Amino acid sequence: MASLTIRKLDDAIKAELRLRAAQHGRSVEDEVRTILRAATGGDMPADNTKYRIAASSQGAVAAQDSGKLRATLIISGGIAAYKSLDLIRRLKDNGFIVRCVLTHAAQQFVTPLAASALSNQRSYTDLFDPASEFDAGHIRLARDCDLIVVAPATADLMAKMAQGHADDLATAILLATDRPVLLAPAMNPLMWANPATRRNVARLIRDGVRTLGPNTGSMAEAGEAGVGRMAEPLEIAARALEMARPPARPLDGRRILITAGPTHEPIDPVRYIANRSSGKQGFAIAAAARAAGAEVTLVAGPVGLPDPAGVTVRRVESARDMLAEVDAALPADAAIFAAAVADWRVANAGEQKIKKTASGFPHLDLVENPDILSTIAHRAEGRPKLVIGFAAETEHLLANARAKLVRKGCDWIVANDVSPATGIMGGDRNTVHLVSRDDGAPDGVGVDSWPAMGKDEVAAHLVERIAAALKEPAA
Ligand code: C5P
Repeated sequence: MASLTIRKLDDAIKAELRLRAAQHGRSVEDEVRTILRAATGGDMPADNTKYRIAASSQGAVAAQDSGKLRATLIISGGIAAYKSLDLIRRLKDNGFIVRCVLTHAAQQFVTPLAASALSNQRSYTDLFDPASEFDAGHIRLARDCDLIVVAPATADLMAKMAQGHADDLATAILLATDRPVLLAPAMNPLMWANPATRRNVARLIRDGVRTLGPNTGSMAEAGEAGVGRMAEPLEIAARALEMARPPARPLDGRRILITAGPTHEPIDPVRYIANRSSGKQGFAIAAAARAAGAEVTLVAGPVGLPDPAGVTVRRVESARDMLAEVDAALPADAAIFAAAVADWRVANAGEQKIKKTASGFPHLDLVENPDILSTIAHRAEGRPKLVIGFAAETEHLLANARAKLVRKGCDWIVANDVSPATGIMGGDRNTVHLVSRDDGAPDGVGVDSWPAMGKDEVAAHLVERIAAALKEPAA
């Protein structure tokens, strides 16, 4: 039987064998034995390198690494690829499990083996890999992670991304992902400055991809300097951590109650008193509060808006129904009464459709509706910490809002001018003034006037203020 002397092997092969052996915790001799056994078909599943690495990487994720962040690191072909090996360590230092994907060009600069040894995970190179443990591996690599980092991102890779190509593993992953993507471009300054690259980068940023660098400095090419150096691994790892961490949700654990839309007060089974409220502002606040982590109940009068995702929506018709649903939804940390509740209802609403008669017009008696905002704001027990009213006025906006703050007993009034000329009623933009109790102000009321903005933006700002106010200790 022929014998094999490892010492006599080619240096490159010896280096690879050493890395592989270290990675598997075996002696070099054992590593060679394992490879040969696998190659001759004996004992495949136990000793086949791919099976072993796959098993150990998946096992690691399942056992000690559950809850860790996961990054797919795509290394494309540029000289800066040597820094990507350091990036693997920096990402690991920041708590990431890192799986590397190397393009064909990248393998001219660094080997998959080095990436595997540093990441302790299998590295990936081919779109069609019959031995991959994944079904449709690019889909898994694209989705089974918290973010994708491309470092270095070459001009060529970015051009392909901008065009939506998917002809190798790296581009297929980037096309198939729904995770945040961070690019660390690196290239010659002239390539970076080229209008084609500028166009591609602008396109990618518009598509939601984030970029870091390139930095200014000397290039690998002798005597060349400029903008083109890949950002430092420490910087990239820090940005990756920032992007992969779940966003802060300032209303996590809070319960928020919102009323929205008009009310319909029946005159008879087919007619009602109504107003022009669209409900858009209240619905936007509900969505923003939910996005900020709150458990939200939205009590909505008749509007044609769909339920905001993740929000409990109670649809009502009249003011009295609205009050009943508000009561049922309490307790809450904050209640925002954005509904345009009808002040009056018909006392003698007909049970049947009121008919025209020769004897004249029907007589409708109006009675006052319950004031939901005032009822809840004046409650001695179970009052939300923050009670916010809206004041839709067509004249004397601020004076009316100040008076309302006191009369209704609420903490803030969001005042807006709803004169037809403003287009606010039913429109998508709003100009509001936040009127609040302010012991420092001469009349005990402070006014913060916000510039004109979209109703979504008003909602986001208001939610920010609410989150801050709920953090303050009770007065
Ligand atoms: O008195 P006015 O209707 O202008 O007050 C507006 C504020 O009071 C809004 O926050 C509105 O939702 C609330 N309101 C209420 N119940 C009513 C009337 C108004 O909650 N019956």
